[in-house]
Amino acid sequence: MKILSIESSCDETSAAVVEKTDTTITVHSNVTATSLLTHAKTGGIIPENAAREQVKYIMPVITKALCESEGLKSDSWIDAKEILEKEIDAVAVTFGPGLIGSLLVGVETAKTLSFVFNKPLIPVNHLLAHLFVNFVSVKPVFPFIGLIVSGAHTDLLYFKSVQEYKWLGGTRDDAAGECFDKCARLLGFDYPGGPKISQLAEKGNAKNIKLPKLMTEDNYDFSFSGLKTSFSNIVRKEFKTVKTPTNEGYSWMHAEIDNLSKEKQQLLCDLCASLEETIVEVLVRKATKASEEFNCPTILLGGGVSANQTLIKKLQENKDLTIIAPERKYCTDNGAMVGAYALLNPVEVSWKKVFANPNLYFD
Ligand code: KG4
Ligand code: ZN
Repeated sequence: MKILSIESSCDETSAAVVEKTDTTITVHSNVTATSLLTHAKTGGIIPENAAREQVKYIMPVITKALCESEGLKSDSWIDAKEILEKEIDAVAVTFGPGLIGSLLVGVETAKTLSFVFNKPLIPVNHLLAHLFVNFVSVKPVFPFIGLIVSGAHTDLLYFKSVQEYKWLGGTRDDAAGECFDKCARLLGFDYPGGPKISQLAEKGNAKNIKLPKLMTEDNYDFSFSGLKTSFSNIVRKEFKTVKTPTNEGYSWMHAEIDNLSKEKQQLLCDLCASLEETIVEVLVRKATKASEEFNCPTILLGGGVSANQTLIKKLQENKDLTIIAPERKYCTDNGAMVGAYALLNPVEVSWKKVFANPNLYFD
């Protein structure tokens, strides 16, 4: 089965052609246009801007993905149309969760293609797609513990099979990625903040700055908003700061890193290392607890924060666990993840009954 899959839930417009033969999933093309630069300028994603960018990119991205899947350099819709007619068995699309304006662009485009070209339509939950993209690189394994860590979600699940799963817990406030992003914003860094914090953390020593340990209760819930407050207090105390309004609240530190003294530069790296370690610690502790409770040594990661190497390394330190994380290019939002999930759970729904659902969660 060969699928054209579409992802447009937030700031990335992506389309892929993905095929399953026996248990192997092959990605023939995966084309992504991102409006990240637009959002970097505004310090975060403004939904209206993201939706406008989706409208601009959706057809060029789909055309390119179809052409590339057959090795064509062309980006002609005539070629793409022929490939869609002859090669593609079904269309899959993220229908939630996400920003309504962004989701609508992908969903309505997929519905139109399904109707016009008479192709079955497979609606996909974005969160599950983040986990199941792992099966592009490895053969499907069950049972497993799924840890979703993205810019908007932090969730732990136990999977017996594709369709049988149990949600164990999630965040009560901010997501792990959101915490990285908001703390980075306090330092005046552009969105997305996770990679920047992580880069500075490499040169820092987490032990030099103490941040409170998160969610010590014996459950699978997470909470990251308090950490942002502690982080903010240290930034205001330790750095010469200017309170500047931004879309995300306030940025306190406006000095360029290069203009800081050597001591303050080190302090900044230590602070980033401590932030990263604190976030990683709670993720590792709760995922390990789930693995023990469900007697399930395999943990699958998904979402933008699974690109964080400290998280992967800390999980891998426990030799009883098998850690599976997506290739870096499949960590953040992409069309291939939507196709991978659709191929493993090809539930077709008439286009008339598929609607964007920004608040979609787990069944
Ligand atoms: O999954 P994703 O593309 O978007 C959502 O579906 O939300 O994840 C984006 C998030 C952002 O919060 C970004 O800061 C974070 O992933 N991220 C990272 C890293 N790379 C991306 N966080 C920590 N370390 C990284 N290396
Ligand atoms: Zn995502």
